[in-house]
Amino acid sequence: MSITNIDIKKNQNNELPHHVVIVMDGNGRWAKKRLLPRTAGHHAGVKTTRKIVEQCVARKIQALTIFAFSSENWRRPEQEVSSLMELFVSALQTEVKSLHEQQVRVRFIGDVSAFSNKLQEMIVQTMQLTGSNSGLQLNIAVNYGGRWDIAQACKKITEKVQRGELRSENIDAQIVSEHVCLAELPEPDLFIRTGGEQRISNFLIWQMAYTELYFTDLLWPDFDQQAFDEALIWFAGRQRRFGKTGEQIEQSGHG
Ligand code: IPE
Ligand code: IPE
Ligand code: MG
Repeated sequence: MSITNIDIKKNQNNELPHHVVIVMDGNGRWAKKRLLPRTAGHHAGVKTTRKIVEQCVARKIQALTIFAFSSENWRRPEQEVSSLMELFVSALQTEVKSLHEQQVRVRFIGDVSAFSNKLQEMIVQTMQLTGSNSGLQLNIAVNYGGRWDIAQACKKITEKVQRGELRSENIDAQIVSEHVCLAELPEPDLFIRTGGEQRISNFLIWQMAYTELYFTDLLWPDFDQQAFDEALIWFAGRQRRFGKTGEQIEQSGHG
């Protein structure tokens, strides 16, 4: 099945997502099945990431946010953590040129202060190089946690109150939304998690209040462009109600 074959009449919301978020899970199990070290799974995962970014560019999706390293992933064996750090450096070295050529604008979200100076410098350079690109907005979540994100938003809001720029009685959900990561983008409309687990693992917990959740048993290195298109087709078939009834949505012509 390809996206061009979608039967438009069957579609509920009849559109592509504006903002896709992905928990790229299953690298370790992919390697284990092949009797390879877990690192080999992470290397294979980078190839999948490259293809899915290309697919988002081809599909003209506005934004893609990928979970590369969670604030909880520091709990892994030291050797795996350090090889993941090396992989981030080498992947940035090999991928950034091509991302730039594809007009991809790369950003990182998460507490990058925990990373080596070298990695932090590369992160800044990548954001500067690609900052004025007009194509896909690619957000890479590293040392990211949804609870960290909400806490850092609270900190910024409190500072504004202390400076007299904001009154505490005016703090509402909209204000919090403006201070969490990715505030400038449409909220994620499609979440994809590979690897068979059906959990959010502290990803964008504030931003995903109304996101459609898609889970697949495919391990991340086995996820391909066709599998991505299947998720897009599944998304197109969702009726997004945002609290209203199905009848209301149909009457307003979005059904
Ligand atoms: C996801 O794959 C990649 C990272 C968390 C960095 P895993 O490494 O979690 O793979 P599994 O879940 O062990 O198979
Ligand atoms: C989530 O995967 C984080 C990333 C994909 C980077 P994990 O494999 O760390 O999630 P849990 O621990 O199984 O929930
Ligand atoms: Mg995992």
